[in-house]
Amino acid sequence: GSEAEAGAALLFWYDGHARVMPWRVGPAERAAGVRPDPYHVWLSEVMLQQTTVAAVRDYFRRFTARWPSVADLAAAEDGDVMAEWAGLGYYARARNLLKCARAVAAAGGQFPATAEGLRALPGIGPYTAAAVAAIAFDEPAVVVDGNVERVVARLWAIETPMPAAKPELVDKAGRLTPQLRPGDHAQAMMDLGATICTPRNPACALCPVNAFCAAKAQGIAAELPRKSPK
Ligand code: ADE
Repeated sequence: GSEAEAGAALLFWYDGHARVMPWRVGPAERAAGVRPDPYHVWLSEVMLQQTTVAAVRDYFRRFTARWPSVADLAAAEDGDVMAEWAGLGYYARARNLLKCARAVAAAGGQFPATAEGLRALPGIGPYTAAAVAAIAFDEPAVVVDGNVERVVARLWAIETPMPAAKPELVDKAGRLTPQLRPGDHAQAMMDLGATICTPRNPACALCPVNAFCAAKAQGIAAELPRKSPK
């Protein structure tokens, strides 16, 4: 169906336009069979909650230089981790980060390879579990953050205001998620939302899935998703 075609067009675009990030595996590495490090994926996803990619980069580099594995992080002093986190904000995230690292280390040092297993760890919510399962382990988990909500609302021209539209958006996002390369698909959706399908002035002319976009066809892309009046 057209969902499969849109998914394929999105992955093709991602192969040429993925943003370079220190926790990502580039196309050449991936072709050589390199997989993302689950520890890196998890750490980046926790840092990226409520913090921009630009702000996270240097923190991510410092954390992984100082604590190269989840076991190293688990063995760190609380105060050292809090000091290294300083500036990222939302300090409960850093405390949960340590709790989670210690739980993984205590269980042998390997992250669970499924969203369900990840969800059982302290401090990992449904979004992070789905993102890590998809990106690190290629589970076709449905990864829905604010960027993905916007892209999906536009592709299907969903007029239901937020937040009531959420279940519908998750359902549509699931239809778009491929069995093959679901982690790249999730990150392609995030990159599309961050660079092209932006909240204001979306660059529809550059969009790899503009032929599939109902909102563009109706001339209402920039208006979606709608919000309930406060
Ligand atoms: N935001 C949260 N996770 C991300 C990722 N893996 N890539 C880009 N933006 C993100």
